[in-house]
Amino acid sequence: MSSKPVFLSACAQEPVSHTPIWIMRQAGRYLPEYRAVRKDVDFLTLTKSPDLAAEVTLQPIRRFGMDAAILFSDIMTPLGGMGIDVQFKPAPYIDEPIQSAKQVEELRALTPLEDVPYTIESVRLVRADLAADKALIGFAGAPFTLFCYAVTGKPDQNFPTARAFMYEEPATAKALLLKLGDAMGAYLSAQAEAGADALMIFESWGGLLSPDLYREYALPAVDRVLEAIRPRKVPLIFFANQGAAYLPVLRDLPVDVIAVDWRQPLSVAAELVGANKTMQGNLDPAALFGSPEELRLRAQAVLDDARGLPGHVFNLGHGIWPQTDPDAVARLVDFVHEQTAR
Ligand code: CP3
Repeated sequence: MSSKPVFLSACAQEPVSHTPIWIMRQAGRYLPEYRAVRKDVDFLTLTKSPDLAAEVTLQPIRRFGMDAAILFSDIMTPLGGMGIDVQFKPAPYIDEPIQSAKQVEELRALTPLEDVPYTIESVRLVRADLAADKALIGFAGAPFTLFCYAVTGKPDQNFPTARAFMYEEPATAKALLLKLGDAMGAYLSAQAEAGADALMIFESWGGLLSPDLYREYALPAVDRVLEAIRPRKVPLIFFANQGAAYLPVLRDLPVDVIAVDWRQPLSVAAELVGANKTMQGNLDPAALFGSPEELRLRAQAVLDDARGLPGHVFNLGHGIWPQTDPDAVARLVDFVHEQTAR
């Protein structure tokens, strides 16, 4: 038996011994062992301490036996290396958001080994400690999602400042997006070089754009990211959050996996992006608050919906909530493994 991680086989649409599962934000505050580490260090320090970052990355794998680990960091972390000062309170906060052409010009290109050496070292440490049959996922924010935070300075439900900026200063907005794309290309490339087995791009806020705006502004910057990592030949996952409107724009995107939120059945999303891609998702994170029976029914519904797809990676439709009972996660991981064993 080969020890190729089942997760990687599913990404490649090869036969699998079971449907692989991992959970967005699987390392985090719902875990007592995470809170124990976080008690003594703030979030930013944690992401910049390779030993501790590697430890919390591995915690959920030890406890639940998911099929993949995801590097513990944040999509905002590499922006620091470009000269954007990001604090975490605990949500990301930027004192001086990007609002002028001059600020965009002054942004530095990212040289990962110099600017974010701790992230690259964390990848090395996790890969060295992780079992051969588990995959390590490296990640970055998609350029448009990072643009929303960089221009607004903090989380928002609608990011009006960032969206208005695209109409007020089109050329500056596009220049910023391309710079973010180049930086994330270098960032992901360095993670693959250091041992990440797969790479994920989080487009958490793509649903704010019409398909036309997505095509004109966001997509050229995504292309920059993909061009930079193509030579690495690792599978790519693209999380198209709230994708109903812009999934069709992603049809020709050369990625292996599309991750979708819980609002749309995987089978419907698969038709929009083309049936040649593995789908990842998409149980509602709220379902973990149901009774064990309710949770099983809802997880089974996701499995049933995915049955006809060429590849499926089970996940939640978005990050796990901090209030979640870890025992519900254990039940979910075991259920998916048992139900899909072949
Ligand atoms: O386990 C994992 O999935 C890996 C770690 C990870 C974090 N953030 C840790 C984190 C990953 C992959 C992310 C991605 C991320 N960060 C996204 C994309 C995914 C998504 O949720 O759409 C986004 C938009 C962010 C930005 C961000 N970081 C926000 C909005 C917040 C505050 C909200 C919150 O959960 O508190 C963060 C902080 C953050 N990132 C925490 C963690 C564990 C909480 C900080 C803490 O522990 O105090």
